[in-house]
Amino acid sequence: MRKPLVAGNWKSNGSYAANQTLITDLMGPVGELGRVDVAICPPFVYLDQVAKLCHGGSIALGAQDVSDQDRGAYTGEVAADMLREMGCTYVIVGHSERRTLYGEDDTFTARKFAAARQHGLIPILCVGEQFWEREEGITESVVARQLDAVLALEGIEALAEAVIAYEPVWAIGTGKTATPQQAQAVHAFIRTRLEHQNPAVAQKIRIVYGGSVKADNAAELFTQPDIDGGLIGGASLKASDFLAICKAAE
Ligand code: G3P
Repeated sequence: MRKPLVAGNWKSNGSYAANQTLITDLMGPVGELGRVDVAICPPFVYLDQVAKLCHGGSIALGAQDVSDQDRGAYTGEVAADMLREMGCTYVIVGHSERRTLYGEDDTFTARKFAAARQHGLIPILCVGEQFWEREEGITESVVARQLDAVLALEGIEALAEAVIAYEPVWAIGTGKTATPQQAQAVHAFIRTRLEHQNPAVAQKIRIVYGGSVKADNAAELFTQPDIDGGLIGGASLKASDFLAICKAAE
């Protein structure tokens, strides 16, 4: 049985004051949750603050991005071992906002995935199609292509400890959630594709859903057989909403 994961992706939001209130409100209730892993991914500059606020509790820390390179002359980059040193457990790679707004392609994303793993971080690999790709009926080939870039570089065994986040781009921040059936279909496609290469890895890997997950639609999504939790954007910025989503995944 896979343990669900609910991760909050704050994106480029937060402030020292707001973070303090949010984490303080989450700490106690998250500690009382049952069988669910909870993580928070704040912007880089707040990782240290959030790490300290979460210290000794059961909220894990994640980053939203990572360099594909080790430490060195890479202005503006944050290396995976720096994130480890900061106390991160997880790191998001290949988020659609990185892919579409900053031109990060499949190969570059795969290198980030590799750098994360090499330094003991659990990568949360985001995959997902744009609206026109769904309309064209090519959702599965888009997701397969994104997945295969990582498999080609890292091999199937590398996915054993990783997390995949299926985030249909048209559902991100739009209020348009994929229906539980639409999401389940893609999650099952991903798991089956991995199964052909290594059934044990396919059964073990957590595939979480992201895209307008809210307190009132989380339960139905999370009861789908291949949906193992969620990657939450907007709703992770409000303690009561995020907690309700975490509870729905227990
Ligand atoms: O990574 C989370 C994400 O992109 C979904 O964002 O705001 O639609 O929950 P949101």
